[in-house]
Amino acid sequence: MGATTQQVIEDGQKYVMNTYGRLPIVIDKGQGCYVWDLDGKRYLDLVAGIAVNSLGHCHPAVSRAIQEQCEKLVHCSNLYWIENQVNLAKLLVEKSGLGKAFFCNSGAEANEAAIKLARKWGKGEKYHIITMQKSFHGRTLGSLAATAQEKYQKAFRPLPEGFSAVPLGDLEALEKEIRPETCAVMLEPIQGESGINVPAQEYMQGVQDLCRKHGILLILDEVQTGLGRTGRSFCFQNFGLEPDIVSLAKAIANGVPMGAILAKTEVADCFQPGDHASTFGGTPIATAAGLAACSILLDDDFLANVRENGQYFRAQLRAIGERHPGVIREVRGLGLMIGCELTGSAKEAAAALLEQGVLVNSIGDHVLRFVPPLIITREEIDSFIPVLESVLCK
Ligand SMILES: Cc1ncc(COP(=O)(O)O)c(C=O)c1O
Repeated sequence: MGATTQQVIEDGQKYVMNTYGRLPIVIDKGQGCYVWDLDGKRYLDLVAGIAVNSLGHCHPAVSRAIQEQCEKLVHCSNLYWIENQVNLAKLLVEKSGLGKAFFCNSGAEANEAAIKLARKWGKGEKYHIITMQKSFHGRTLGSLAATAQEKYQKAFRPLPEGFSAVPLGDLEALEKEIRPETCAVMLEPIQGESGINVPAQEYMQGVQDLCRKHGILLILDEVQTGLGRTGRSFCFQNFGLEPDIVSLAKAIANGVPMGAILAKTEVADCFQPGDHASTFGGTPIATAAGLAACSILLDDDFLANVRENGQYFRAQLRAIGERHPGVIREVRGLGLMIGCELTGSAKEAAAALLEQGVLVNSIGDHVLRFVPPLIITREEIDSFIPVLESVLCK
């Protein structure tokens, strides 16, 4: 007999640092859009590891790639060339229109690489980076300095210098903030952690125009929005943009830890041997998983399905709002990155949904975030809608 849920939780509280507000279940296994807890209860997973398991749990192509690579070579230093890494870089470059890739292990680490690359490009004269209020770029000190939210920063000062933030959506404030020492503007094409905030097309175009006008770089943090989540390979393609640097992580290897940045060749080439590195960046095993995952995620038919199902999901959520006026304030998002702002408590709704066998993430006081596996079917969406309706309208 293995441990019980209660034993795992008690030991976890004793031995694991208390950095997460955890729900009281232990996830034991997963398949497709479902996971099971230690007691055998099944849940429809609309969280997907927060936009990580985009191909669902234990996707056969990814599991097979990991298994085959495991038996050949797990790790090899970047002192040598790694074939999977080169092939994944080629795929990401071809799908993004950017020039070269660098691999690391997480979203925060990808943003650290983006910040360092922008500063290297700035040759020591340009180092200041403008970010957006309410942004989220990670928890390491550099990415935290870029994360313009007091609640995350306040206990950890002093943070690295050279960052300032402006309100999202305000081009005038952005232009005023650009200084002779500014090297880049860095933003999420859709703010994820602060409520699925989708900026206007004109605003995003305006940000790029300002970067070009002032000769500075546009860095897009696509850690959450990238790799098919919004129905395009990269979210910037929804806006018709041409960023200089893009950071990626989360879905890139469907759950095997990996991050990456892509950059235009002339920017990427500012990095020379010794400037940046990561022992585990782009290992044979991670890039085998990445290559298997991205070959599916970035396929045109797959992406068309994400757009269609995303639209369908949002329409069904809006229909609940129409049937029960006053319950849902707004449904927003792109593809299968969806925010549903409630008038009531999102935390309470998420807790009730957990009881009903559905995993949903709540952000802030009122927003339910849906970032399900991108393989979710209409039938699975249809099975969820009455459950949500009963929870919201009891
Ligand atoms: C937009 C964005 N950037 C960066 C990060 C940090 O990624 P990681 O937790 O892999 O360090 C996140 C994580 O949620 C994110 O949503």
